[in-house]
Amino acid sequence: MENSRSKHWKLATRLIQAGRSHEPGAPLNPNITLSTGFSAGGDFGYSRNNQPNWVATQSALGELENAEALLFSSGMASFNTVIELLPLGSKVVAGDVGYSGIDKRLKELAAQNRINLTLVPTANQGAMINAAKDAALVWLDTPTNPTMRIWDIRAISAATSGLTAVDNTLAGSLHQAPLDLGADISMHSATKQLSGHSDLLAGALLTRNPDLLTKLTEIRTLTGAVLSAFDSYLLLRGMRTLQLRQERASANALDLAERLSSHSKIAKVWHLGLKTHPDFQLASAQMCGVGSVFSIEIKGDAQAAEKVSEATKLWSHSTSLGGVESQLERRRRWANEPIGVPENLIRLSVGIEDVEDLWQDLDQALMQS
Ligand SMILES: Cc1ncc(COP(=O)(O)O)c(C=O)c1O
Repeated sequence: MENSRSKHWKLATRLIQAGRSHEPGAPLNPNITLSTGFSAGGDFGYSRNNQPNWVATQSALGELENAEALLFSSGMASFNTVIELLPLGSKVVAGDVGYSGIDKRLKELAAQNRINLTLVPTANQGAMINAAKDAALVWLDTPTNPTMRIWDIRAISAATSGLTAVDNTLAGSLHQAPLDLGADISMHSATKQLSGHSDLLAGALLTRNPDLLTKLTEIRTLTGAVLSAFDSYLLLRGMRTLQLRQERASANALDLAERLSSHSKIAKVWHLGLKTHPDFQLASAQMCGVGSVFSIEIKGDAQAAEKVSEATKLWSHSTSLGGVESQLERRRRWANEPIGVPENLIRLSVGIEDVEDLWQDLDQALMQS
């Protein structure tokens, strides 16, 4: 496999080149290798340990954050792999609002005494720094899904003697580099922006620490939460256009957030690019762009927010985020959503459609609440 990093190309170019071979006669895209076993003596043995499609896709992922990357069968599988690093009863610290699946799993693990969990009020940097000091793992969901608050990655990573892992799904690698800020692990639900077309589940862990990489690889092999060759191929295909998609979706998101700020039916807009956001300064210092996901609180209760979600014709009323199509949902419609998420909050994942079409559809839906 070519080492595209050594060529000093810009990221857009490296993303297009990663995992490609320039050998005479080589296919432009890696073939989908379905074999589970490989003849002895070569680079591959058994496809739960390693396989050619992972190598290509992991090399593209590594380009994004200048790290080594490992693929998993979902974002949740990558999170659970980080937990497996910890001895029984280890102290884990996280915010009291974050992605609901991880929040629920952390609480389950604590109930089983697998971990000793401390949940800190979200965006309280001082309390997090204090709690982090003797933690074995600090798990930072920043920007928090779906309330869009910020954790200070640099200050918190510096405060702990344990590991700091950042869920980088919402920001995306183009906007936030947790490993540059001192984190040990950057995690992604590659189901979202990285793949970008809402048609596969995948997860990724990125690290620059060779010992951690070895341990995480071993856990993946033994727990078996591996990605199929086909999904690995599709993910790489999606990543080729990551930068273009993200630029367009982020510009659409900021445009809509600005318009929504003065909408008669809106109580609050939680977009980190707005100067009115309480974490605007920290986000500007820590991120270079804020991505395509933001949240709104509408004037009214849960029912009014449901009505808006159901009234759109272009925006898809569905869960998940990061696809080329715009999606929205009231997050508290899910029983597992942390109670710190307001009942009237709607999360918007902005796609790459024409922004005027998106605005008109959202406006007519809001006017029905
Ligand atoms: C911020 C965040 N982290 C992790 C996950 C879990 O990822 P997956 O659904 O790929 O398991 C999600 C899924 O919505 C998410 O939004």
